[in-house]
Amino acid sequence: MRVLLLGSGGREHALALGLAEDASVSELIAAPGNPGIARIARQQRQVDLADPAAVAGLAVEVAADLVVVGPEAPLVAGVADAVRAKGIAVFGPSAEAARLEGSKAFAKDVMTAAGVPTARAYTCTDAESVGRALDEFGAPYVVKNDGLAAGKGVVVTDDRARAAAHARECGRVVIEEYLAGPEVSLFVVTDGEAAVPLLPAQDFKRVGDGDTGPNTGGMGAYAPLPWAPAGLVDEVMRDVVHPTLAEMRRRGTPFAGLLYVGLAITAAGPRVIEFNARFGDPETQVVLALLETPLAGLLHAAATGTLAEHPPLRWRSGAAVTVVVAADGYPAKPRTGDVITGAERPGVVHAGTARRATDGALLSAGGRVLCGTATGADLAAARDAAYELVRGIELAGSHHRSDIAAAAIEGRIVLPA
Ligand code: AMP
Ligand code: GLY
Repeated sequence: MRVLLLGSGGREHALALGLAEDASVSELIAAPGNPGIARIARQQRQVDLADPAAVAGLAVEVAADLVVVGPEAPLVAGVADAVRAKGIAVFGPSAEAARLEGSKAFAKDVMTAAGVPTARAYTCTDAESVGRALDEFGAPYVVKNDGLAAGKGVVVTDDRARAAAHARECGRVVIEEYLAGPEVSLFVVTDGEAAVPLLPAQDFKRVGDGDTGPNTGGMGAYAPLPWAPAGLVDEVMRDVVHPTLAEMRRRGTPFAGLLYVGLAITAAGPRVIEFNARFGDPETQVVLALLETPLAGLLHAAATGTLAEHPPLRWRSGAAVTVVVAADGYPAKPRTGDVITGAERPGVVHAGTARRATDGALLSAGGRVLCGTATGADLAAARDAAYELVRGIELAGSHHRSDIAAAAIEGRIVLPA
């Protein structure tokens, strides 16, 4: 089949690697892709990902059998709807269903209706209700921008004035109770009814070692999770995923695509922190590195409502770790345009990179620039190999976390009792 892959980040590079490995994929076309994807895809095309009609037109032009939408913004804009309207299979939810990610308030509403365990929350638009919500829940304060914010719309702080200031800047916010416990990212492939969980992974949201500093889009990830409670995935499928999918069907807006469930494992059990409507970045790199089942076949089954007939997933043994190399300044405004060396190695995944037109040199072009992604017989071996890749990358002013997967390897992740 001919697959059109939309997006240009590390997640899309990981998806491209997985799709290219699937023998059923005859041709991979990327729009726009990045220099890492360029080595895998047959063609790279330019299209405005926020323009549903333009994307649908491209899908027709390249005679795609399957369109895979990487990032959230095109989904929220209705790209999947426009492609589906052309009779082309698309992996990604409708605009209506993507509101599970596009609006924190909508997601809370669905969770409440579906009886899904999550933090208690208020949606607030004025200073008075913000103040009341902050005082009811107390510190640490959790204030979330209602709309899409590329993983940076959430402030978690003990500083009440800072929490109130973030609410003021956002306008419409969700303020919720703080959930204490280790976080899990669980990806679920679904056709709206049948649902298949992938391996749970853990992401590192804060920019600094020891989970310090501001939130980012994610600084690293690993899978599987040696500390995860037995039966976690079954419990989340039963208590979170199936009720949410049923509620979306009941509303007449079934969710088909990738449901990303962000959880905290609290003393009271798993609680949903957020839903996303697409693969997580960078978790996708570790999860797909371990998936043995051909990826295009799986995504095609979800896109065509035939997931119930898909064979059970097969996984490679061992573990995978990815470490993000970020540009100077990230997660605030990153410095771009610096020359990168040492990135032309298998396992180096491209996120924010570009080629210089004059000489083909690799340049930094975003906040999260590259990732070192490796597998190994166990987490420790995978971690060593990932950091080996990162040590080989040279980018002036870049930074990365040095503690990705360390606590899990050292048995320091404790589940709250
Ligand atoms: P979100 O965009 O909702 O995933 O939030 C980004 C990050 O903020 C999460 O990965 C958590 O680390 C943190 N966070 C969000 N909501 C909560 C909460 N209710 N309790 C504790 N931490 C939270
Ligand atoms: N790694 C977090 C996200 O993709 O939202």
